[in-house]
Amino acid sequence: MSEIILPEVELNIYSPKSPVEVKVVENYVVTKESSPNFVRHITFDVSGTELVERVRVGQSVGILPPGTDSRGKAHKLRLYSISSPTSGERGEKHLISTTVKRTIEEFEEKIYLGVASNYLADLKPGDTVKMTGPSGRRFLLPENSRDFNYLFFATGTGIAPFRGMIQELFESDYKNDCVLVFGCPYRTDLLYSDYFEEMDQQNDNFHYIKCISREARRKDGSKYYVQTALEDHSKFLFPILEKENTLIYICGMKGMETGIYLELLQQKLEGYLEIRKELPKDLNDIPHDKMKRFVKPANRTFEEVY
Ligand code: A2P
Repeated sequence: MSEIILPEVELNIYSPKSPVEVKVVENYVVTKESSPNFVRHITFDVSGTELVERVRVGQSVGILPPGTDSRGKAHKLRLYSISSPTSGERGEKHLISTTVKRTIEEFEEKIYLGVASNYLADLKPGDTVKMTGPSGRRFLLPENSRDFNYLFFATGTGIAPFRGMIQELFESDYKNDCVLVFGCPYRTDLLYSDYFEEMDQQNDNFHYIKCISREARRKDGSKYYVQTALEDHSKFLFPILEKENTLIYICGMKGMETGIYLELLQQKLEGYLEIRKELPKDLNDIPHDKMKRFVKPANRTFEEVY
């Protein structure tokens, strides 16, 4: 198989002590109209800064929300994945985007709004934000990206890097297979779905698989999760996964990666994993929280979970 050549990246051109100010150019909702969740696509103009053409898809930028917490301390930096391709949003190299979900939590009968996500979600075109970064050196597309097939697994806003990566692959003459497996609770939580549906219809080599967890159930009563797609769509996915030039990328909620490892082991697709410790005969005997004692991602598997 082709060697996986990861690009060299520059890290933290702007640090938290010396962030750069950038302007918001657009901010729109990417969930369906009737969704009770709000996920937004936010684009920043970085022209005149050192970030132009130096932020790659797969990397993150930091956002410094203004103000202080209840103890008077400055709010902490939050990292957000880039969801535009390396060439820039709509091919404009001075525009970079991210994907933000408004976080709302209830604790002891009080509602808490996530500081950074709600600050970002409320921004209007023309507003400025303090940005740091870029960060991340491994969750990247290889320089020779066209040589590979991809299986992208995303839950929720974990879709962000894959939107940019898919745009990046298909803006060149990409001929291999690219599969996006996306998991969310309800159909209304599908993100950028019009774009992915259209890509699926227009490209024989792009495939969009949706795993909606809280609507229909699988035959055995379990939920549709991204990892169950490996079994539910095995006839289609197995021939792609068997190829030596296929790479797996996983992005989203912590815990999804171990579910994927288990399915890969069950399907004897161990090439994506490095075995650390002898596996029990019945793989279901491995507790999910102990999975990482037995296996870890091999060089064809990239993950970013949080
Ligand atoms: P559920 O919450 O129904 O159990 P979002 O970020 O929009 O909430 O979506 C996250 C999606 O990931 C949901 O569909 C959620 O399902 C699903 N999910 C939860 N736990 C796991 C897991 N361990 N592996 C894979 N998917 C998961």
